[in-house]
Amino acid sequence: MNSDVQIAGDPLALPHLLPPVPAHPATVAGFAGLARSIAADRAAWAPLVRYDTTTRWYHRLRTVPQATVGYEVWLLSWVPGQGSGRHDHGASSGVLTVLEGELTEHTATGPRALAAGAQRVFAPGYVHEVVNDALAPAVSLHIYFPGLTDMPMHPSQAASSGGAAAPSEVLAP
Ligand SMILES: [Fe+2]
Repeated sequence: MNSDVQIAGDPLALPHLLPPVPAHPATVAGFAGLARSIAADRAAWAPLVRYDTTTRWYHRLRTVPQATVGYEVWLLSWVPGQGSGRHDHGASSGVLTVLEGELTEHTATGPRALAAGAQRVFAPGYVHEVVNDALAPAVSLHIYFPGLTDMPMHPSQAASSGGAAAPSEVLAP
């Protein structure tokens, strides 16, 4: 019996016929995949992480200008008790990926525990509050597309979350 390769030819043998590999994600799934690939490269992000008990720590890993796809990648740390405050992300969509530890996301539907490896994808207008309710520090990766330019704060619904909004939250949830 002939195989598909025997019948149609090996597409890998004709690289000029393959679609070009995009340099940047162009779909939500693509951004989620980018987050997973960054998460898997622990040696690249782990040395950058800092923990700050006085204010939320964050670091911008990547900025791709609006002229192309337009997105930003942020690395954030959360010591126990730190939180984002309740907010949305303006016109940006996003992918939140927990790299280490555990975070709790509060939304209108209730709390959701996010262990290392968990991902949340959200559209513009999505409102949430993220806190570290655990006893160990946590690290998360956030991709916003387009890049985050506005992060309106909302009145907190989770009085028991213990997460107070830090001034740095203006552009880093
Ligand atoms: Fe957020």
